[in-house]
Amino acid sequence: MMTSMEQRYRRILDVMISLGQEQVLRFWPDLTDAEKMSLLDQLESLSAEQLQRQSDLIKQYRAETAPRPLQLEPFPVIPLAASAAERTRDQQAAKVGRELLRQGKVAVLVVAGGLGSRLGREEPKGCVEIGPISRRSLFQFHTEKIIRLEHLYGKPILFLIMTSEQNHTDTIQYFHRHHYFGKNPDTLFFFSQSSQPAFDQYGKLLLRSRHALALSPDGHGGLLAALQRHRLVDRLQNAGVELLYYFQVDNALCRIADPLFLGHHVLQQAEMASKSVAKRNAEEKVGVFCRVNGRPAVVEYSELNETLRNQRDDQGDLRFKQGSIAIHIFNLAFFTRLFETKVQLPYHIALKKVPCIDGQGRPITPERENGYKLEQFIFDALPYARNTIVVETSREEEFSPVKNASGLDSPETATRALVELFGRWLEKAGVAVPRGPDGLSRHRLEISPLYALDEEELRSKIPCKLEIIGDTFFD
Ligand code: UTP
Repeated sequence: MMTSMEQRYRRILDVMISLGQEQVLRFWPDLTDAEKMSLLDQLESLSAEQLQRQSDLIKQYRAETAPRPLQLEPFPVIPLAASAAERTRDQQAAKVGRELLRQGKVAVLVVAGGLGSRLGREEPKGCVEIGPISRRSLFQFHTEKIIRLEHLYGKPILFLIMTSEQNHTDTIQYFHRHHYFGKNPDTLFFFSQSSQPAFDQYGKLLLRSRHALALSPDGHGGLLAALQRHRLVDRLQNAGVELLYYFQVDNALCRIADPLFLGHHVLQQAEMASKSVAKRNAEEKVGVFCRVNGRPAVVEYSELNETLRNQRDDQGDLRFKQGSIAIHIFNLAFFTRLFETKVQLPYHIALKKVPCIDGQGRPITPERENGYKLEQFIFDALPYARNTIVVETSREEEFSPVKNASGLDSPETATRALVELFGRWLEKAGVAVPRGPDGLSRHRLEISPLYALDEEELRSKIPCKLEIIGDTFFD
């Protein structure tokens, strides 16, 4: 007589054979009972239909030679203020935004579930230390900015941290070890997104070990399903929140709950809003804001052909110039509508290094990209928004991501970007900042978010006749 585990095994094996994925059970006879159970649990949690779709998607992706033709137009943005009228426009928007914060209508969300494979560290990316003097981590900077906002506006601000199955425990332990950086833990929500299996080039599931699939987080667009699964929208609405301010953990300069952006969002009656920066050049690999067949969207670098990438407008500017920096505002009611209408964001395929085992069960630590991951992107919610706006901001003020271990977009460039940001704030407050021949600050400068959140706040606090004669930290 077959045991219930054997029955389960037979049933799942049949499904895997029908999907052409029976290799995942190749090591079955060598597994312990606990390992068998764990593998069956993983396989049972996959939807056969979805697995087939994903595997087909990869085979199809590999067969495709040219990107699909799209009807593209640039998406109009609210530009950086250049005239007196635009400055007045911004002041009015910022006033509205401040009022929203005073009313406690804004919660903040950081997506921190990524594996940071390019950075290549064990710890979650938010733990990377970038404080020019204090060695504050990304998580600490973000959390302290929110604490400062709570003081300024007199209301607690709920802070949601999306992790993944791979880094959830480490993230919580990190915050716990640092006493939540002084933020009331009752106002923090850690929740995990889901995972998706990785595939090889033939659309076959990869194994991480003899009894486990190679899984990775399902992309920042996994936020939608995670919010729904954890019932977070209801919880926020019950707390009187109407808007969710979204950013990515690796942006060292992110202005959080920016009143100007919030104000524009509300004044323009948007359901989803985004910030953009001008691309450095045609070849910068960022997604750009477009209208695709009339609908707003972010079009990835790889989907914009060379002609469009280089196209210029009448002023000689890049026509598709506004790059996405992954800062958004969402109306909670927009999420509710997406849930009710069962919107499924599309999967994007990324070729990445996926540690796995080979057919003999030997571990492979890939030196080159070997596996296909499927990820959802949150900006794919844009076409569903009834109204959406894009607000331009300055890269130097708001965007310095940590992606790589060294060189471009690394902890080093993020730290430098902070020093330069603080240097400019000090100069605007009338303080001379000694600069080298390259124009960069000679000294390390740091302003704690708890001391000042922006240049206006700094100006109101700075002692008169301040001289910078060495590394300087305002705490
Ligand atoms: P990236 O796309 O840069 O991915 O994420 P990453 O994991 O940080 O780094 P690589 O590509 O593996 O080197 C941009 C932001 O989206 C979050 C990341 O944590 C980061 O804040 N993210 C990404 C998630 O929250 N979940 C994901 O599944 C992917």
